[in-house]
This record gives sequence, structure tokens and C-alpha cells, in this order.
Amino acid sequence: MSEKIPVAQRLSAVKPSATVAVAQPARELKAQGIDVLSFSVGGPDFDTPVHIREAAKKAIDSGATRCTAARGIPELREAICDASAKRRAGVTYEPSQVVVSVGAKHTLFNLALALYDEGDEVLIPAPYWVSYPEQVRLAGANPVIVQTTEEQGFRMTPEALRAAITPKTKALILCSPSNPTGAAYTGEQLRALADVAAEHNFWIIVDEIYGQLVYGGFEQKSIAEVAPDLKDRIIIVDGVSKTFAMTGWRIGWMLGPEYVTKACEKIQGQATTNPSSVAQHAAIAALRGPWEPMEEMRQAFEARRSIIVEGLNAIDGISCGMPEGAFYAFANVQALIGKEGGGKKLETDLDVAGYLLEEARCAVVPGTAFGAPGFVRISYAASNEMIREGLSRIGEALSKLG
Ligand SMILES: Cc1ncc(COP(=O)(O)O)c(C=O)c1O
Repeated sequence: MSEKIPVAQRLSAVKPSATVAVAQPARELKAQGIDVLSFSVGGPDFDTPVHIREAAKKAIDSGATRCTAARGIPELREAICDASAKRRAGVTYEPSQVVVSVGAKHTLFNLALALYDEGDEVLIPAPYWVSYPEQVRLAGANPVIVQTTEEQGFRMTPEALRAAITPKTKALILCSPSNPTGAAYTGEQLRALADVAAEHNFWIIVDEIYGQLVYGGFEQKSIAEVAPDLKDRIIIVDGVSKTFAMTGWRIGWMLGPEYVTKACEKIQGQATTNPSSVAQHAAIAALRGPWEPMEEMRQAFEARRSIIVEGLNAIDGISCGMPEGAFYAFANVQALIGKEGGGKKLETDLDVAGYLLEEARCAVVPGTAFGAPGFVRISYAASNEMIREGLSRIGEALSKLG
């Protein structure tokens, strides 16, 4: 036997996806035939709308089965520009300013490789989506976490941003509405952050993948709309996964300066050649409409948001603010820390999530995974019946705590 050859050093600082890891114990229980309700998922529970599926079938039958341009087919990039112009008032992009990738996660990964050098700092407000810091690390740069609080609605203040900026700051990654909190920034709040950023020179990467899933009349704004003066350093990340219930199709994209798209295209051309040809055609159908199936899904999420947030607040020991968007409730479980259940003391949010899995048979994600101990993320990408059943099980399990 030869000596074990180690894997690359760059992986030593990188954590595996926390949300994937958390799903594992629930999967094991399910495999044993135990009825576990999963509130840990990050994708819509709906099927992809019929007209999108039909467009994919047609694409296969009409021969769209070969490699495409690395950055995606022109018709899709045009559809992306048109859809973006409708959504973001006064902001227009050309197809040459778009790169389509294998999901928005891949877009962000391309950007990390294209933009960050060894030792660069990338500002990430917490709670954050689990992949942001790890992708920064994989690129050899350093994530700098900017804490936000529940009192601030989990939104980074201009003061906190200013305090985190150093000469090494290369980028800020902003997610609005956010995974995991559902919090979204108003136009004014974005402008206030842009004012601080304008005093410096770093990239502003905005992840707007949940931008069309906002509720209660919340007026979704892109930083690109409110800070046209910074357009040459704003990069928008978006995709079809969430809005169109298309997580498995793997189509996401960036909109930004042409020279950045060229850099991303170079990386992608060596990594994946291109995103799936069939999925690209499906994405065109998604963006071109009809819009009704998406509006129906959005309305269903909005109704579930009320059920889950009201239900959680009715449970002793849990409190939860009303998120503006996405499909996550981010519940404060600090009042449960120190209680005893199942013969164990709950010392952290990880223990709370573990207890809920064992006692309530409900899978939730501990806030620690998102840089926010003391909270749990509960996805409402689940039917009303499942949400009601989950709330009842959680309430009952927590009532047994001593
Ligand atoms: C905030 C955020 N950004 C990006 C993504 C990646 O989406 P996809 O790669 O499916 O396009 C996700 C998926 O969970 C997400 O929650």
C-alpha cells in the first residue's frame, strides 16, 4: 500500500455545505421509515410550471442537444436582459453583459475565482447563505463577517459597513431578500449602504435570487436601481431556481461589466463548457412567461408565511419576525437555551434543532450554520397541512421541556 496522498491544502479551511449536512440525520430517520417533516429545504416544493417543461421537451425534439456558447445562448441572454429591465427600473444591460452558469451558486463561484486574489477581504453580512464564506475561502480570499441583529431586522447598517471596510476590501456580498432570514432592504436602506460604498472602491455583488418572492406589498428594489452612479461596480446575481421552481435545472446568471463577464466566461469555458442546452431553453420559457403560474406560487408562499410566523409566535419559547421575502422563517430560540429535554440540556441552537428532530420529527436548520447562533431557519416551502402539522408537533415537543 502506498502512502495516502493528501487532498489539496486549500480545502483545509473550507467547510462542507452546512445545509446539506443538516439534512443527513433527517434523511437517515426517513430511511428507517420514520415520518420526518422536512423544514430544512432551500427550494420550492412546487413542480416546474407546465409551459416551461413543455419548452424543454420541444428543445430536445428540435435538436437543441449540442454544446452552446460558454456564456449561454443569445436568446436566453436577451430574455434575461428584457426580464431584468422590467424588474429593475431604469437599469438596462446588454446580452454582452450577461453570463449564464450552472445555477446562481456556480455564478457566485465563477465570480469568486474571477475577482478575488489571495488575501483579499470580502464583506458578508451575517446571517449569511452558507456558500458565500466557503466560496471566498476556496478562492484564497478571506471572508469578513459583518454581524447584524434581530433588532435591526437582520439588515446591515451603513455604520457597520463602514467599520468593516479596510484597504483590503475587495467585495461586499449582499443578499436581498435574504436566505436565511427573509429580510429585504428598502430602496432607502440600499442607498445609504451605497453612499458608504461610494467612498471606496470595491465590488458590490447583489444576490437577488429571491427578488420576486416578496410579500405584503413590499417594494423590492435593486441596489442597481438606487445607485446608478455605482453601476460599473455592481454585479447582479440571479437565476430561475426559486421564482420558477427550477432548482434542478441549474440555470443562474450574472449581469455586470463586460470585462467581468469575459473573465467569468474564461473560467466557465474551462470548467463546464456551458450550462445545459435544454435547461437554457426552459429558462427562456420561464422568463418570457406567462407569469400566472409564478404569481400563484408567490401567493401560496405569502399565505404560508402568515401561517408559520403566527404559529411560531404562539409557541412558548419561540419568537419570529415577519420576513419581507424568500420562503424562510428565522425564529429566535434563545429562550429555549438552558431548558432540559429528552434527558439533555439544550445548550445551543444545534441542540434545539436536534431536539426538534428527535422529539417533534421536524427538521430545521440551526442558525449557527448561517453565522447566527440562537436561531433556527424553518423553510415554508411546504404545504399548509405540513406547516400546521409541524407547528403542532413543535409546540407539543417544546411543552415537554423542563
Ligand atoms: C441566497 C442564495 N443564493 C444562491 C442560491 C443558489 O441557487 P441556484 O444555484 O440553485 O441558482 C441559493 C440557493 O439556495 C440561495 O439561497
